[in-house]
Amino acid sequence: MATSDLQFVMMGLHDEFAQAFFLHQQALLDRDFGRAARQLAVYRERLFQHMRDEEVLVLPRYEALGGDATDAPVRLFLGEHGKLRAFLEDFVLRTATLVEGADDRALLELFDRQATYKNLMLHHDLRERNALYPFLAARLSTVAQASLLAACGAHD
Ligand SMILES: [Fe+2]
Ligand SMILES: [Fe+2]
Repeated sequence: MATSDLQFVMMGLHDEFAQAFFLHQQALLDRDFGRAARQLAVYRERLFQHMRDEEVLVLPRYEALGGDATDAPVRLFLGEHGKLRAFLEDFVLRTATLVEGADDRALLELFDRQATYKNLMLHHDLRERNALYPFLAARLSTVAQASLLAACGAHD
């Protein structure tokens, strides 16, 4: 089955977010904490907007089409979004602390937490890649998928 536009665009966004997070971690490695904070703010803004789009526009469609009857119900996606947001808010605070004063232990602690976060994000990405978007692609017409994507982009 060809990958639909909806799947293609949404998974492309996930790849862009992963790259933005890499730039944040690269700045941490460079011990350029101001840059790390700015990169994190960009990443956070884009990821949060994407999660809002999914919660307001995508998941309600998934639920209406019977997504809750699968082994990937809406509450799983919402639960993961909540955890991802909590991690991100924690990273913002920890990065701000590093801006005020570099500290090896604090930096290593941040990397440890980010490893856990990346693992959670990997599972979330796979759930959307293998369950949410293929489910929608199989049930929405090309036109319906395009209008859903347009609605997701309406805030740009
Ligand atoms: Fe997503
Ligand atoms: Fe998501």
